[in-house]
Amino acid sequence: MELPMTRITLNVNGAETQVDAPDDMPLLWALRDLMGLTGSKYGCGIGQCGACTVHLNGAPVRSCLIPVSQLSGQAITTIEGLTEDGALHPLQQAWIEKDVAQCGYCQSGQIMSAAALLQRNAEPTDADIDAAMAGNYCRCGTYIRIREAIHAAAMSFDAAATKGVQS
Ligand code: FES
Ligand code: FES
Repeated sequence: MELPMTRITLNVNGAETQVDAPDDMPLLWALRDLMGLTGSKYGCGIGQCGACTVHLNGAPVRSCLIPVSQLSGQAITTIEGLTEDGALHPLQQAWIEKDVAQCGYCQSGQIMSAAALLQRNAEPTDADIDAAMAGNYCRCGTYIRIREAIHAAAMSFDAAATKGVQS
């Protein structure tokens, strides 16, 4: 039996895209299977691991939990949308410099949660980072390097802002 499909207009990474999907399809599957955006990962499917984290109107959400039919007209950002004009986001750069990833599976979710943190708190403490990242699990135990990379990215944001003021 074929499931009834609804045409839904999604705003993903600044571009509007139409998808035909069952109303209850989780956003994660629309991103991965219908739009080819495979950076967001399926870990648990029940909102517990954070591997599927994307931004909805700037806030981190679990894309495995949200039906795509609820998202018309809302701004969705995925890991693919963090890169601007080919330039890596400071967090992505810091992730490389600190050699954070091990298997890598959890890391796009980690970076999306970190990006949301830095948007609301430009100079997070260790405690701030631990609180913001508590819902993102890493089976490889990269938590210490994740914390270092978030501090490094925060410093690079700070340096860029200082340079902007001086120039
Ligand atoms: Fe969404 Fe685990 S796959 S929270
Ligand atoms: Fe392997 Fe996080 S790097 S699960």
